[in-house]
Amino acid sequence: MNIHKEPLLKTERLILRPIKLRDLSIVQKYSLEDEFFRFLDFHTKESVKEFVELAVISDWNDNARFVITLKSETIGSVGLYINQKEKIAEIGYSLSKKYWGQGIIPEAVRAVFRYGFIDMKLEKIFAQTDLLNLPSQSVMKKMNMQQEALLKKHIISQNIRRDVVYYSILKSDWEKQVN
Ligand SMILES: CC(C)(COP(=O)(O)OP(=O)(O)OC[C@H]1O[C@@H](n2cnc3c(N)ncnc32)[C@H](O)[C@@H]1OP(=O)(O)O)[C@@H](O)C(=O)NCCC(=O)NCCS
Repeated sequence: MNIHKEPLLKTERLILRPIKLRDLSIVQKYSLEDEFFRFLDFHTKESVKEFVELAVISDWNDNARFVITLKSETIGSVGLYINQKEKIAEIGYSLSKKYWGQGIIPEAVRAVFRYGFIDMKLEKIFAQTDLLNLPSQSVMKKMNMQQEALLKKHIISQNIRRDVVYYSILKSDWEKQVN
């Protein structure tokens, strides 16, 4: 039996549950909104489809992708790409533009940190983003993640060569802030 199947994370405003194929159309809808994909590679219906399908068919212990729901409406997603051998994971998140600036992603990430460090027994969670993606870095700072690296001209996204920043948090530091 896989004890990590179908986790449900509840926060003050949100419920996070594993992504399903039926979420595809709503994820496509908000992912293709203006501005949303400025720093992401999901800028076509097909690429969003691949992202959702991969999450649905992946082993939960490798790719744990939650949708974020508010009053039963799917408004975003947050997930962990897990390296089980190293007990580390990369966290990724995104939210429908309509809900930006309300602290929704920090609230969801807080729950996923707890899930990752306690249930998945991770030792470290990291995140990466375009150096120009200030909203994403603001989330990382609010979560007390520390910048570890700036990789110059590291990726090509939407035909532009981009600088990437890495932030991370260790379980031992996370424990200090929740206790
Ligand atoms: C990055 C993102 C996930 C932040 O989620 P959120 O729930 O809005 O996070 P917060 O409420 O903490 O706001 C974070 C920052 O967004 C910016 N922001 C807030 N409202 C905004 C708005 N209406 N328009 C543009 N940016 C806004 C602010 O810089 C804010 O930082 P501050 O609180 O220090 O002022 C969200 O903007 C998003 O989904 N962006 C598109 C996808 C993406 O870039 N994902 C991350 C890939 S690494």
